[in-house]
Amino acid sequence: MQQVNLGIIGGGTVGSGVYEALQHNGSLLASRIGAKVVVHRIAVRDPKKKRAAQIPRSLLTTDWREVVFDPQVQLVAELIGGTTTAREVILAALKSGKPVVTANKALLSAHGEELFAAARKYGANLHYEASVCGGIPIIKSLREGFVGNRINALYGIVNGTCNFILSRMKLQGVDFAAAVAEAQRMGYAETPPDLDVDGHDAAHKIGILASLAHGFWINPKKIYTEGIRHVTPLDMKLAGQLGYTIKLLGIIKKPAHGSCVQVTVYPALVPNGHVMASVNDAYNAVLVRGDVVGDTLFYGQGAGKDATASAVLSDVADAALDLKFANKHRVPPFVPHECDSSVAPIAGVFSEYFVRLDVLDKPGVLARITSVFARNNIGISHVLQPRGREGEIIPLVLMLHRAPNGAVTRALKQIADQPLLKGKPVMFRVENFQ
Ligand code: NAP
Ligand code: HSE
Repeated sequence: MQQVNLGIIGGGTVGSGVYEALQHNGSLLASRIGAKVVVHRIAVRDPKKKRAAQIPRSLLTTDWREVVFDPQVQLVAELIGGTTTAREVILAALKSGKPVVTANKALLSAHGEELFAAARKYGANLHYEASVCGGIPIIKSLREGFVGNRINALYGIVNGTCNFILSRMKLQGVDFAAAVAEAQRMGYAETPPDLDVDGHDAAHKIGILASLAHGFWINPKKIYTEGIRHVTPLDMKLAGQLGYTIKLLGIIKKPAHGSCVQVTVYPALVPNGHVMASVNDAYNAVLVRGDVVGDTLFYGQGAGKDATASAVLSDVADAALDLKFANKHRVPPFVPHECDSSVAPIAGVFSEYFVRLDVLDKPGVLARITSVFARNNIGISHVLQPRGREGEIIPLVLMLHRAPNGAVTRALKQIADQPLLKGKPVMFRVENFQ
């Protein structure tokens, strides 16, 4: 049987998972693809470090060049993360004509256009299934399964750490900092975890999915991004009373008319009756709406050693098959198309809203607030005001009808400019998946 030598750069959570999975399932993989994948060399920073997998010291080196430029290494997996050395590693491997597998969404988000151009130039594929949604084969599904569809909408819970934190806060009453620390211990979080909690990791992933779905590389600076730091137990409770759960959602929507695509990441209220509200812990879910297929839903472990290793192995198998048959994928990993489109500015994006205003309970306050929304042509669909005593500060919740983000931001600023509130207005968008 043909042997394919794999060089791995990075032996941390994901690298160890890949090594271990190949030890357990290497023979199965070989019998399925007709090629034996052998780990030839692994680059790490500190060879003495204790690792999740028992990697023989003889395989380890601290110099990634010894792996990439080893003539026996035919295929390279970049699993170190970051955007500097990782970029160098991938470009060097591609230039040597070696296919690359990466789990690095931050790098693809920042330099994807350059890296895929290099892959085309040097005739070596760049595979990236593990970069989005851990074990869920969402890249392959979009690229191959839905190749005959226009993607009208995609909604994703794509960050395992944030979903884990929000679930622990809502279901177990754990506080934010403790939930972050737990996600770090479980190996879900990025280094630093701010990449997760501030929404950047989700933006990297949603940008990759949007680029794949719409054929032009999305500049990450154009993705409107909010994280979950401002989601409080009080808002979770109030949203719950209205029948909603708060989730960090990545959204890609192409309106029927116009060429702009909504590409956003923010915490949103999701109806409890919708399946996305039941996605908990480090699980991810992606709802893809294709014009031919209709709605499809993907669910699975979105982060962690084994789920991510599974995605890396799927790419390793594809690359090994390419090497075995000396040809390239029928549907290449990323091909630019429909490049005339662009990302919609947030001010023009429409949605519904949950607004919490901490106000003094006294006559006339509600009237003054509702008049601001009326002046901005924004309708109110529901009001929730917990019973309080006159003169007390109470949380006033208003649910707003569909309106552009720009109008709602303007109205909230006008309300905040009046001496009516204690603290700043709190606003979350509501997503009904229509
Ligand atoms: P990690 O646990 O921090 O591991 C990083 C590994 O890279 C370590 O083994 C480290 O060596 C090695 N390394 C760092 N710089 C190096 C250098 N210059 N030369 C050689 N080795 C170097 O990170 P991870 O969680 O495995 O993540 C790796 C990648 O997968 C990242 O792009 C991440 O975004 C992505 N990813 C992670 C997950 C997840 O759940 N963790 C899921 C999907 C994608 P030492 O071990 O000696 O320090
Ligand atoms: N930090 C990422 C997450 C890892 O929590 O989703 C998986 O990409």
